[in-house]
Amino acid sequence: MSALTATPLASFLTEANFKSVLYIIAFALFIIGLSGLTGPKTAVRGNRIAAVGMTIAVIATLLVDPFHNPVLIIVGLVVGTAIGVPAARRVKMTEMPQLVALFNGVGGGAVALISWAEFRTSGGFDTTQTYIVVFSLFSAIVGSVSFWGSNVAFGKLQGLIDGGSISLGRLQLPVQGIVGGAAIVLAVLIATGSTSEILIILILVLAGLFGILLVLPIGGADMPVVISLLNAFTGLAAAAAGIALDNQALIVAGMIVGASGTILTQQMAVAMNRTIVSVIVGGFGVGEGAAVATTSASGGTVTSTSASDVAIQMAYARQVVVVPGYGMAVSQAQHAVREMAKLLEEKGVVVKYAIHPVAGRMPGHMNVLLAEADVPYEQLKEMDDINGEFKRTDVSLVIGANDVTNPDARNKADSPIYGMPILNVDESASTIVLKRSMSSGYAGIDNPLFTDPKTSMLFGDAKASVEGITEELKAL
Ligand code: TAP
Repeated sequence: MSALTATPLASFLTEANFKSVLYIIAFALFIIGLSGLTGPKTAVRGNRIAAVGMTIAVIATLLVDPFHNPVLIIVGLVVGTAIGVPAARRVKMTEMPQLVALFNGVGGGAVALISWAEFRTSGGFDTTQTYIVVFSLFSAIVGSVSFWGSNVAFGKLQGLIDGGSISLGRLQLPVQGIVGGAAIVLAVLIATGSTSEILIILILVLAGLFGILLVLPIGGADMPVVISLLNAFTGLAAAAAGIALDNQALIVAGMIVGASGTILTQQMAVAMNRTIVSVIVGGFGVGEGAAVATTSASGGTVTSTSASDVAIQMAYARQVVVVPGYGMAVSQAQHAVREMAKLLEEKGVVVKYAIHPVAGRMPGHMNVLLAEADVPYEQLKEMDDINGEFKRTDVSLVIGANDVTNPDARNKADSPIYGMPILNVDESASTIVLKRSMSSGYAGIDNPLFTDPKTSMLFGDAKASVEGITEELKAL
């Protein structure tokens, strides 16, 4: 017992009930914070509220046994803060998916190591109740899968590993099955009484190998879906560790992460009209610009235009709908877009932004970029809200978007993206597409919008093109 527990205040602070009250406050803050993340206006506040909740949860946990290895705890907090804060501050918006992968992976790795530590301190789970052993082993396996899988996802997105599919061909699934199966067999050996430490080490290694084998064959462009899935795995592993350690904070936080990660993965898959299994087994998205569509593929004629023509057309429009996509993120055109829109508004043009749920490469990608450029939230329209408006729109300005505008998703039953909900830009009176070439987007398929007689293409880097249009608008 420490000196702190000698005083009445200290014994009150370290009482289990007080910890439970703090945990309940923390959980409430997690939920309020999470609900804030559902809209761009409240997202930053939501994030801060959840962070306060996590701080309270950490303090509550430390109060119970404050002097249990304080040096290690302080070193952990300092190292984590020293790495995490600058990384989060310095990361570019386009690099956000890999940062999330890395942070998520670290969570999974921590959970896996906790299981190993528990194994050691309990003498190989010698007298531990069976259900706790099962949950510990579950978090060891799933945490290790998540850690190594997330690291591969990071490597692919960061360009450290080839972004294409790396697989063992027909041997892939059998090898994966053997590796995963072996980890489970070893876990059963521990659960049924073996106390050999080499077994848990082998479980961590095999599960890690399984995670690597799981992610290596998946194309770089599918990574956001995979990262979200691994995020859900980490949450489940943390919740299982919480059950094993009898720690409610870990159970609740883990379940929130697990549930939200699962819902997000499912929503992304639905918005891409794909199943999660098809993403994992592979399909399209085997690397950026994997296939190149040309005019000949659709047989239509491409009409190219100039910045001055686009400026004139938009200046005399009643309504312009901006349709941003991945190319806007690549060229970082958001600030230039905002400048251009301001000029149009000064000329009395109504400007709206059509946001497709999977435009770009991560959930909320376009919202984040446009918010960074101070585009008013009320001008950002979700797909279902804007789709009815295209018929009344004079000009749709597609900025580096491709798949999310592809009418084949509506009209061509044998298209790989058939059934994916799209932005109906082809219904507007005229469409202008800003991109560098006739290359395909993520799905690697031709887009008949580009050869539609109502469409004109302004070729070039999106930012340069928008700046060119802005100069022309100023001259009008
Ligand atoms: P894409 O269909 O990927 O098309 C982006 C287009 O941007 C490309 O055709 C490219 O054409 C153009 N581009 C690239 N760099 C550019 C630059 N510097 N300037 C101008 N244009 C540039 O993007 P989208 O329409 O946003 O659709 C997103 C796709 O990603 C969907 O298929 C979706 O399913 C998938 N996906 C999304 C997510 C999430 S959560 N958002 C996750 C995984 C996959 P050029 O090369 O000719 O310029």
